[in-house]
Amino acid sequence: MLDAVLRRGQTLEAAASTVRALPSADRALAVAIAGETLRRLPDLDALIDSATRQRLPDDAKARTVLRLALAQKLGLGTPDHALVATALPLVDGGPRRLVHGVLGTLLRRGLAPSAAPRLPDAVEQRWGTAWGASVLDAARRQIARRPPLDLTFADEAEALAYATTHAGNVLAPRHVRVESSSVTELDGYGGGRWWVQDLAASLPARLIPSEAKDVLDLCAAPGGKTMQLAAAGHKVTALDASKSRLERLSENLQRTHVAADLIQADALVWKPQRPFDAILLDAPCSATGTFRRHPEVLYRARPPIIAENTELQARLLERAAGWLNPGGSLVYSVCSLEPEEGERVVEAFLAANRGFRIAPPAAGELPDFVTSSAEGWVRILPGMLEDQGGLDGFFMVRLVRQR
Ligand SMILES: C[S@@+](CC[C@H](N)C(=O)[O-])C[C@H]1O[C@@H](n2cnc3c(N)ncnc32)[C@H](O)[C@@H]1O
Repeated sequence: MLDAVLRRGQTLEAAASTVRALPSADRALAVAIAGETLRRLPDLDALIDSATRQRLPDDAKARTVLRLALAQKLGLGTPDHALVATALPLVDGGPRRLVHGVLGTLLRRGLAPSAAPRLPDAVEQRWGTAWGASVLDAARRQIARRPPLDLTFADEAEALAYATTHAGNVLAPRHVRVESSSVTELDGYGGGRWWVQDLAASLPARLIPSEAKDVLDLCAAPGGKTMQLAAAGHKVTALDASKSRLERLSENLQRTHVAADLIQADALVWKPQRPFDAILLDAPCSATGTFRRHPEVLYRARPPIIAENTELQARLLERAAGWLNPGGSLVYSVCSLEPEEGERVVEAFLAANRGFRIAPPAAGELPDFVTSSAEGWVRILPGMLEDQGGLDGFFMVRLVRQR
């Protein structure tokens, strides 16, 4: 799995197909070990390097096995004897003495997990430059912690009732935050009254004006925002290029008993037959804002990938802008912490499209803790709402086509 993520750039979810054949408990453990390794990789490597004079290449088997053992120690609290007993057979006939020696040295030191592990160097540099040291520190603290689980409800009264009976925290209307690591064990799972959606991810759809009747959700799958829009009473057309993701969207709509017209198409080619009152463009992106749940994004989002996304985002935004009724709203969002995919895309769009202006969130549209920038867009950064469990990183803006 680590090889698939680090060398081949796969998501951890896709990489997990490698362990498909294992019994489910073993599979879950394997995925958890890989996840913890990715959460703490720079710290694990620094520990390994501090305990041997040999310079182990990144892909050396000894380094990989040591990373896995240390991730279990620091991230999962596995007992030392179990670590050693599972690590050594992996290097039988190979660098067993080296692994045994390094592991023994480190375990004798009495390792404790850092509350703020280092992020990969390239990410530390990018985010330090873009957002400053305190945001970077918050991101380090966040990667060490398991994020809480956020549920979005179709119905506001039901959200309040659920929060009362399940010790949940209502941080916005139709939203409940619960402390749980397992969705499937939550009361009401499969019942269709709520869906899992980080609070930050629920904000862009809240910027679609309630009076907009005919709404296009461009790049819609798997449909968290489609369900929000449909539950809020809009007539929703949901488009996505991916057949499999659109199938998940369709299942999600059925489960939650809300409706939308579904279209499988490439938004760079597709043309609507009518203009819309509002469009939500939740664009494909590096997804670095989701690093708390998907630590591998920190390794996958390399500069060429970010540049590729930026170009696609600009093209999608340009196209969507042509499909609005006069006075219509276009909400652009990305779950990315890279300004190139958020602020810069919108600046370039506005410079080239004089007929659009930013409409900042009005009072009450977003929860009180969310403030917009001087420009009128919303940037969600690590550190926000930290004492309540934090949020995914996000960028969003509402653009209005002038009449
Ligand atoms: C950030 S995800 C959308 C998440 C979704 N809005 C939600 O809330 O569940 C981006 C989506 O864009 C889709 N996509 C990427 N390129 C596309 C294109 N050219 N046309 C249409 N959809 C595209 C991907 O398949 C992916 O589902």
